[in-house]
Amino acid sequence: MRVLLADAFPEPHLADLVERGHDCRYEPDTTTGQLADRLSGREVLIVRSTRVPAEVFDNADALRLVIRAGSGTNTIDCAAAARRGVRVCNVPGRNAIAVAELALALLLALDRTICDNVADLRAGRWDKKRYSRARGIFGRRVGVIGLGRIGMAFAERVAALGTTVYAVAKPGRDPHTLERARAIGIRFVDDLPELARTCDVLSLHLPATDATRHLVDRDLLAHVQPGTIILNTARGDLIDEDALIEAMETKDVRAGLDVFADEPATGTGTIDSRLVKHPNVYGTHHIGASTEQAQHAVAAEVVRMVDAFASGEVLHC
Ligand code: MLT
Repeated sequence: MRVLLADAFPEPHLADLVERGHDCRYEPDTTTGQLADRLSGREVLIVRSTRVPAEVFDNADALRLVIRAGSGTNTIDCAAAARRGVRVCNVPGRNAIAVAELALALLLALDRTICDNVADLRAGRWDKKRYSRARGIFGRRVGVIGLGRIGMAFAERVAALGTTVYAVAKPGRDPHTLERARAIGIRFVDDLPELARTCDVLSLHLPATDATRHLVDRDLLAHVQPGTIILNTARGDLIDEDALIEAMETKDVRAGLDVFADEPATGTGTIDSRLVKHPNVYGTHHIGASTEQAQHAVAAEVVRMVDAFASGEVLHC
């Protein structure tokens, strides 16, 4: 296969692709604007952060497969791909533990105001009294919104800290999920407003779709308790950011956010949002999946998929 790798890809797996006979063009800093040119004659595109809008498909005559080296495909215009007969595949699950670990890290950091602590010390200030008011995690009620691979990995880890995990009951959940939920001791409530009223931590683990856009909006935030911590390591679009800022002002809601509505389209750039600068927000650079372990696991699966596609196998994605 002639492959364009438009984002960083771990070296041993790139070498593996080449060894397997694939003709790889490795351009890890490709912008959306450069895609059309670099895709010329290429059958497979591998992307992580670079957005792939409809016009890319209009001009990529050889393209047959796009693999998103991550779970979500919201950065790719899948409808345009389908119109041009291009398969779009994702690699779900391989980075679930990494994302769950980041959500946990944000929770612990917010509870202990770790980032402010570190910033003060770096500035030469010692203020033990200011940082002696953490509430603690043990015994808290954590609402997990989305019990897929990542949500479940988070639920397991946060439950191990002595929290009680809650989720919204949903008809038709598969038996495996229900069994894992039982093992973790997840308690089910009827709907999101009840989850918001019950819990003092809410963690989002859903894909970005029309149905999940602004799931956390003014209406839902009206139900949260003062001081609630909201974690979003999924997609920025899940939260109405203006409504969240309001809730931070009126209810002292705090937020650990790895994702934002307006992220730079290629993984580097600038971000100018009131949210990232707000003192109640600990923000990170959409790095949930950015561990060596996760990136190796994703890349190994990408190599397998390219090989499978090359040998005519139907990809189940
Ligand atoms: C995902 O969709 O799994 C993540 O967004 C991966 C990434 O950081 O690119």
